[in-house]
Amino acid sequence: KKAKMVVDKEYRISEIDKRIYGSFIEHLGRAVYGGIYEPGHPTADEQGFRQDVLELVRELNVPIVRYPGGNMVSAYNWEDGVGPREQRPRRLELAWRVIETNEIGTNEFADWAKKANSEVMMAVNLGTRGIDAARNFIEYCNHPSGSYYSDLRISHGYKEPHKFKVWCLGNEMDGPWQIGHKTPDEYGRLAVETAKAMRQVDPSIELVVCGSSHSNMPLFPQWEATVLEHTYDHVDYISLHQYFGNREHDSANYLAKSLEMDRFIRTVIATADFVKAKKRSKKTINLSFDEWNVWYHSNEADRKIEPWQIAPPQLEDHYNFEDALLVGTLLITFLKHADRVKIACLAQLVNVIAPIMTEKNGKAWRQTIYYPFMHASQYGRGIALHTLSSSPRYDTKDFTDVPYLESTAVYNEEQDEVTIFAVNRHLEESLELECDMRSFEGYQVVEHIVLHHEDLKARNSAAEEAVKSTTNGDAAVDDGIVRATLLPKSWNVIRLS
Ligand code: AHR
Repeated sequence: KKAKMVVDKEYRISEIDKRIYGSFIEHLGRAVYGGIYEPGHPTADEQGFRQDVLELVRELNVPIVRYPGGNMVSAYNWEDGVGPREQRPRRLELAWRVIETNEIGTNEFADWAKKANSEVMMAVNLGTRGIDAARNFIEYCNHPSGSYYSDLRISHGYKEPHKFKVWCLGNEMDGPWQIGHKTPDEYGRLAVETAKAMRQVDPSIELVVCGSSHSNMPLFPQWEATVLEHTYDHVDYISLHQYFGNREHDSANYLAKSLEMDRFIRTVIATADFVKAKKRSKKTINLSFDEWNVWYHSNEADRKIEPWQIAPPQLEDHYNFEDALLVGTLLITFLKHADRVKIACLAQLVNVIAPIMTEKNGKAWRQTIYYPFMHASQYGRGIALHTLSSSPRYDTKDFTDVPYLESTAVYNEEQDEVTIFAVNRHLEESLELECDMRSFEGYQVVEHIVLHHEDLKARNSAAEEAVKSTTNGDAAVDDGIVRATLLPKSWNVIRLS
């Protein structure tokens, strides 16, 4: 089968915001305790942070990490996680029905993020709490000194303010499972008043208001419209969350699910712009896709977990090769919307629906999905280009006209490099790609990275990395035309310079 692309350096979508390669650490399962933090582990540093995990996080080049939740934030008292450790309370954590020891809190996580070369995307609790706790918390984190909460932070050993820039106004407040679930009007009113108070403390922050928990929520997209009508002038981003799975064991259909994400993004853009028009506003609200990933493998195991344990193995999806392919198509989808999606967080980062797994007292290892994320994060920086493509198509249970070729290109002017990202969704046949790149005169192929496995269900483990990328693709340029074989079911990164 044949597919074509045209990539021209002048056809630009937008500068890519590097924060689309963000991720997420929630106080959930073994993400924090036994994940990033395991005092006594052979690689633990003086604060108990595992350096083997930090190395893998740094390799992913994650510019921002959302924290501390997630559902957990909706009943979280930030005060529990600061100050002398021996005085911190053990709490019933209601979202995931575990015991939270509060050994790690805001200050320790800020330290960890620095070590990971990341910023923190902080969240306030708008489930059980509201304006008062939020304004105190931001004063504690961001105010330099000379006030009750900023001086409290200093007394806890943190002289410099953390200067957290991006803040989430609660989490998934449209979800009936959320502690403190609200109607769109209840949430919209609380969010706008909280936003105003937080900005009084620190006008330099950016705020993310909660959109729908996924695109099949009953109120979507009316939720977005109502919430933005309340908050439009006082927030910067609206959030989107979506998880995918192959419960039906239909891989052709599964690999087309990035089209669902594409439709979700388009609908949220349309809704935000509708409110913009209604308000005669000059301001544009951008998108923060701050939870996305594959999540379904662990559902059954999670139902068997006894409540009120400390850091049980919750949401430990063990990813296979087809999950990595889907993740590749989702990353390409963000790049195609680089003009409006400015933040995205792979949910999550360690152990909990994560690219990085850890063994207690043992190894940290890479899941299959680690690879496409790492490649996009490393090479998908610069300008997202509008590409033209033509590809044979197929129909599935939920989608029609699905192109076998999912692709895009990124131009990094500074490094004088252009990268094509491409997935061949065909399960049996190669695609012979012909890509017109004549505007990139003189560019040669640096490498053609391929992630491919014969078995869609192949998985990695601590013992063996069965699924890992190679650089044995055959891409070559001739007279400005790149020709490459895209193997059946493969993720491809073709770098030219
Ligand atoms: O990432 C796991 C959970 O998924 C988060 O806590 C919640 O926000 C979402 O439902």
